[in-house]
Amino acid sequence: MPSVFIKTYGCQMNERDSEAVSAQLVARGYTLAPSEAMADVVLLNTCSVRDLAEQKALGKMRSVIGNSRRARPGQIHGFLGCMAQSRGAELVEQMPGVDLVVGTQKLHRTGEYLDDLLARRRGKIVETGDEEGSQSEVRDHLVLSGSAETAPAQVSAFVSIMQGCNQHCTFCIVPATRGGERSRSIPEIVDECRRLAGRGVREVTLLGQIVTSFGKREIPVAEGRSAFVQLLDAVHAVDGLERIRFTSPHPKGYGDDLIEAFGRLPKLVESAHLPLQSGSDRLLKLMHRGYTLERYLGIVRRLRAVKPSIGVSTDIIVGFPGETEEDFARTMEACDEVLFDMAYVFKYSQRRDTPAATMEDQVPQETIEERHRKLLDRINAQGMAKYEALVGRTVEILVEGPSHRNAARLEGRTRCNKIVVFPGSPRHVGRVMDVRIERTGTFTLYGDPAIVNLDPSGDDDGVVTGAVETVGMSHR
Ligand code: 5AD
Repeated sequence: MPSVFIKTYGCQMNERDSEAVSAQLVARGYTLAPSEAMADVVLLNTCSVRDLAEQKALGKMRSVIGNSRRARPGQIHGFLGCMAQSRGAELVEQMPGVDLVVGTQKLHRTGEYLDDLLARRRGKIVETGDEEGSQSEVRDHLVLSGSAETAPAQVSAFVSIMQGCNQHCTFCIVPATRGGERSRSIPEIVDECRRLAGRGVREVTLLGQIVTSFGKREIPVAEGRSAFVQLLDAVHAVDGLERIRFTSPHPKGYGDDLIEAFGRLPKLVESAHLPLQSGSDRLLKLMHRGYTLERYLGIVRRLRAVKPSIGVSTDIIVGFPGETEEDFARTMEACDEVLFDMAYVFKYSQRRDTPAATMEDQVPQETIEERHRKLLDRINAQGMAKYEALVGRTVEILVEGPSHRNAARLEGRTRCNKIVVFPGSPRHVGRVMDVRIERTGTFTLYGDPAIVNLDPSGDDDGVVTGAVETVGMSHR
């Protein structure tokens, strides 16, 4: 059976898409290779949000093709996802070793295309057309999950609720790569969440490019609740799920109904990603963001009034065309005012066919670098202070599995989306438990399992014995 290796660049939607393509290929009889060197097929699932992400994938493909010439002639090479969508045929023209280009609305057909290539029924394949209903395809994406009786193989899962975006921010290539907004139906999403919960998943992250616009045109507001909040209500009712997250929202989607949902729905965790992009109203307008700083700050205030411990993270772009020192100062001040738990700070990158790419006053690269460094330093200091404030406190975590940094320890996430590493045993995976925060690392918390109130589904006697014994040695 042919083996496949998939490497993913970019956002969580891409991660989920790669999982879905893997599941689809495994169902067709393909195996998953442990590395690109051992694979019959290498697929790169790409990101186009910034030029850097595209360059990384292009460089990787060049090296994969070069290596395969010597070691694995006949290896099949494909680009999937956003860059495949935006560059299309140009990818096979410029890189003769590329056999396959699959756009964002054709991912569920990857298996057919590979079958055709391997059987030599078709030569090179470039498929980037639109496809009606593609947002509802490739649902099953838990490839390697075990049975729910043992520790669940996957505690947290992504659920795609919609595709595309109609916001047309002037810097953003996403409307071109992911198309216009198309939502799945609430029953279809709830059904997927139910099946995931049945397989041991305890947390779902609802995914889309602009989730707060979910179902806007298809599902009318009911009792003051938008389609997105109706979806949250429906997912909240799924037995077995402990936590609900969502990303990425748009600030304009935080109406009273959504803010109120944070207070009303216990499974909706205290975590909000609120992409600010800039603190300058002038720039927000040029970016076509649809809010002012004052409105944005109002949302943060109202969220914190409902949930004082809510973790607030953001995306900020520095060096958008025309950004003056004055505009940049507004962004720094906005960060001082909000005090984000975490922020992704991006250097503005010109994207083809976006309105901002041809705006006047593109900011020189040195200025972008300098502002990026300044803002990152400020944001990191503010974020670290938030982490330090948790030392000595007991927090609730959902245990996800072995720590990525040290497989001998476990890793979980607080409700406000901070990673906690702690000593524990595999039977804790999938459990909600309390840990006392002992110290912080760089955007990581180190915890000590408290005398715990394990979730009621557990068969534990309420005390994490083994873990408590080891904790003193490894942490003090
Ligand atoms: N340049 C830099 N950052 C960008 N983003 C989107 N487009 C660009 C661009 N052209 C950032 C935004 C968005 C995040 C996913 O990527 O901050 O919220």
